[in-house]
Amino acid sequence: MSDTKNDYPLLAKQLESLLSGERNWLTNISQFAALVFNNLNQINWAGFYLKVDDNYLKLGAFQGQVACTTIKIGTGVCGTSAEQRESLLVKDVDQFKGHIVCDSRSRSELVCPVIVDNELWGVFDLDSPILSRFDKQDQQGVEELINVLIRSTDWNVGIGHLN
Ligand code: SME
Repeated sequence: MSDTKNDYPLLAKQLESLLSGERNWLTNISQFAALVFNNLNQINWAGFYLKVDDNYLKLGAFQGQVACTTIKIGTGVCGTSAEQRESLLVKDVDQFKGHIVCDSRSRSELVCPVIVDNELWGVFDLDSPILSRFDKQDQQGVEELINVLIRSTDWNVGIGHLN
């Protein structure tokens, strides 16, 4: 297997097993970000931006360098993916008008929306220091991982005192 090819079906099984027995959304998105960050090759950032209202995404669970805290829906790669409710494969971030720089090492990016019961919940963002790191196979693999996450999680409950 080459440097950037990953076994997504195996990772999906590992994710199912990691999340089994736990349905809290904060716990599960945290585990998800750590599993993906540590198992995909050539990645420098992996994490969630969560929809907090009709206009903004806020930084959620992630692995990697500190990042921008707030992204307006419709801006940057994440905000555009959120607005279009579609995955975005960006082979060269410098060619994406409005790309938001968080970690200057990032050269390519894959963003997939998290849609629960037809509602946008947020996006999952993957960054790589390698140009053209992601292809359609990665997109389909990550979308399948997100499907496992969605099925394994209760999204409509708060956390502890926030309940
Ligand atoms: N590059 C993203 C911002 C988030 S960071 O890469 C972690 C964007 O353009 O939306």
